[in-house]
Amino acid sequence: MSFEQRILCIGAGYVGGPTMAMIACKCPHLKVTVVDINAERIAQWNSDRLPIYEPGLDEIVRSARGRNLFFHTDIPAAIREADIIFVSVNTPTKTFGEGAGMAADLQYWEKTARQIRDVATSSKIIVEKSTLPVKTAQAMERILTASSNGIRFDILSNPEFLAEGSAVRDLEFPDRILIGSRQTPEGIRARDQLVDIYAHWVPRERILTIDIWSSELSKLVANAFLAQRISSINAISALCEKTGADVTEVAHAVGLDSRIGPKFLNASVGFGGSCFKKDILNLVYICKTLGLDDVAAYWQHVVDINEKQKERFVITMLRSMFNTLAGKKIAVFGFAFKADTGDIRESPAIYVVRKLLEEKAQVVVTDPKAIENARIELEGASGVSFTEDPYEAAAGSHAIAVLTEWSLFRDLDYEAIHRSMAKPAFVFDGRNLLDHDRLYEIGFNVYPIGKPKRSHLHE
Ligand code: NAD
Ligand code: UGA
Repeated sequence: MSFEQRILCIGAGYVGGPTMAMIACKCPHLKVTVVDINAERIAQWNSDRLPIYEPGLDEIVRSARGRNLFFHTDIPAAIREADIIFVSVNTPTKTFGEGAGMAADLQYWEKTARQIRDVATSSKIIVEKSTLPVKTAQAMERILTASSNGIRFDILSNPEFLAEGSAVRDLEFPDRILIGSRQTPEGIRARDQLVDIYAHWVPRERILTIDIWSSELSKLVANAFLAQRISSINAISALCEKTGADVTEVAHAVGLDSRIGPKFLNASVGFGGSCFKKDILNLVYICKTLGLDDVAAYWQHVVDINEKQKERFVITMLRSMFNTLAGKKIAVFGFAFKADTGDIRESPAIYVVRKLLEEKAQVVVTDPKAIENARIELEGASGVSFTEDPYEAAAGSHAIAVLTEWSLFRDLDYEAIHRSMAKPAFVFDGRNLLDHDRLYEIGFNVYPIGKPKRSHLHE
């Protein structure tokens, strides 16, 4: 079969896989290839058990795989045949040297750029899909053109805004597609080729074309603003707990102001996920290196409040359970960083479980999709066990800690669960997911986030 254009994505992760599956699905005239250095991951993409859980993903992969969507590990061959190359490798926080713990680690991205330069035999458009520090495209241009033998590389920034758990919907109906390019005739020509691809399913007015530095920076800023809303409401949740106000009522009242809006105001045990913390720290680092210390301190606080929120949650558990958790069984409901994903990267559950183990509690983790990842994360930790059955997790426990907002936890038979637990029985609802009045009536002592506790105990 002949295709009009060949698209390649380097990096078959949470972004590369779903993004390319959507392009392949919507553009059958394009050949879409996804490559990775991780052969096991590629084998999973080619199997019935995809490497990531994402509602609706199986269907779109199945519809295009083998037709115009291909996964393999022959990266040089794939580079040579591609017209447009998306780079979607990981850009974690640097753990060593200058900027350790803050700056983005660009080694994977740079290796990819060098590989493209070394094996390419024809001109290509290179698309930054990974989240990168502002001005990365300039460094890439320098690497790619260092010995390009007359081959032309045009670099575009096309950051991804999908959220895990809703990736397929976000890709199909994005709020916007952002494409940054050089404002030269060649840059604009390259940009228009990418616009044409998205225009197959995204309304043209939602495809935003801007300059390349603004595009790179917009991605970091979007994540910083989203995380800032959560830290703002979480900071207020602490105040609510001290004053008897209810954070859900406050968020509702505040969010009705159309200038503020209702979304992303759910107080919680803290935000997790692979990107919020790393991208804010990256922003903080960039500001610091540019001498903008006040700006850096402002954004650093969004991360600090999030760390505090997790600490507060564990302290509340400890204080309300008579200052000792040693030997007590605690059922942790949810290990994923949010519902509808098996991803546990930076999940608040990691911090909470480790702290409970330090207190010598016996922790049982239950989660419908993240048990495998939880086992790997907690390998070697003593005092922790795993089950997919929440009833089994709760039986004999002194407390339940809800750490992920899986809807299945809302619909359990809490009367039966209460009967099976040690007394007094506690619920610490880190997601304000459950019906607290009902739990209190059943006999639980209930500790939500940012709301008055419902306790039968006289303290
Ligand atoms: P990921 O870790 O799931 O996937 C990255 C993949 O790149 C891995 O499979 C890794 O093996 C592969 N890789 C690394 N170096 C490679 C190389 N030299 N050649 C080929 N493959 C290589 O990461 P992710 O969650 O998909 O994130 C990728 C980028 O997208 C990051 O910059 C992230 O900030 C950004 N992003 C992520 C999300 C999200 O929801 N996860 C959303 C928007 C943007
Ligand atoms: C986030 C952004 O929403 C995406 O736009 C972005 O593309 C992505 O990061 C990225 O760059 O990686 P994601 O982390 O997948 O997506 O999921 P979110 O829905 O943003 O949730 C992040 C965390 O915040 C979760 O732990 C979630 O439970 C928490 N959260 C979210 C709250 O505690 N309260 C809220 O009101 C909303």
